[in-house]
Amino acid sequence: MGFTSDKVTDYLSSYYKPLDEDLGELRAFNEERNVPLILRETETFLSLILEMTQPRRILEIGTAYGYSAVFFARSIPEATVTTIDRNIHMIPVASSVFEDRPEGRRIDFRTGDAETILDEMIEEMRSHPDDDLLYDFVFIDAGKSHYRDFFDRAEQLARPGALIVCDNILMHGWTVDRSYEGARRHRTNVKYMRQFIEYINGREDLTVSLLASGDGLAVIRLHD
Ligand SMILES: C[S@@+](CC[C@H](N)C(=O)[O-])C[C@H]1O[C@@H](n2cnc3c(N)ncnc32)[C@H](O)[C@@H]1O
Repeated sequence: MGFTSDKVTDYLSSYYKPLDEDLGELRAFNEERNVPLILRETETFLSLILEMTQPRRILEIGTAYGYSAVFFARSIPEATVTTIDRNIHMIPVASSVFEDRPEGRRIDFRTGDAETILDEMIEEMRSHPDDDLLYDFVFIDAGKSHYRDFFDRAEQLARPGALIVCDNILMHGWTVDRSYEGARRHRTNVKYMRQFIEYINGREDLTVSLLASGDGLAVIRLHD
């Protein structure tokens, strides 16, 4: 259970509509196998943000089976999506999910540790600067104790005015209250997540909104 009651979650979920049948089936495929993926509430919120901002270049850190990458690519048919994962069990499944769908042609799947890959991308950007290659929208959904590392790198790859959305910032409520079940076991993640939230809120050149939607979202806009 998360930090909202199951009744609230069920009520909100009752209004959830998958983008199409294929994504509905892909969600079920992930859920049946307990593969982590964006919650329904999170997806609904992201749909709205994507519709409003129409990003052309999307960067995702944390692919898993590729559900959210396909969702991003299908939501914005003109967009390209770069998505990164290092997990050897996820990589072959995500690769076949992308191969089996026409959107896969617009998904650049990079495999390996995200920090290393992002550093390579920054290096490439430095040696061949091209504003058209900067990202408009970044979704951070990987190792919870590394959000600051991902954010610092993502910022260098994003254009001014870009949005960076971080998922799971409340981590079932553990970030807020250590009495939540499981919090003690995850105290390192909690420590780093709290430091990350403190950091982004201390930056005057960012607009930050913290939301209790899904497992908690930070929506961050880089100023122009
Ligand atoms: C919550 S899942 C991503 C779910 C996906 N965004 C979706 O909604 O379909 C997190 C993924 O991040 C990956 N991950 C965690 N730390 C990583 C790192 N340092 N580099 C690359 N991938 C990482 C894990 O292997 C896992 O597959």
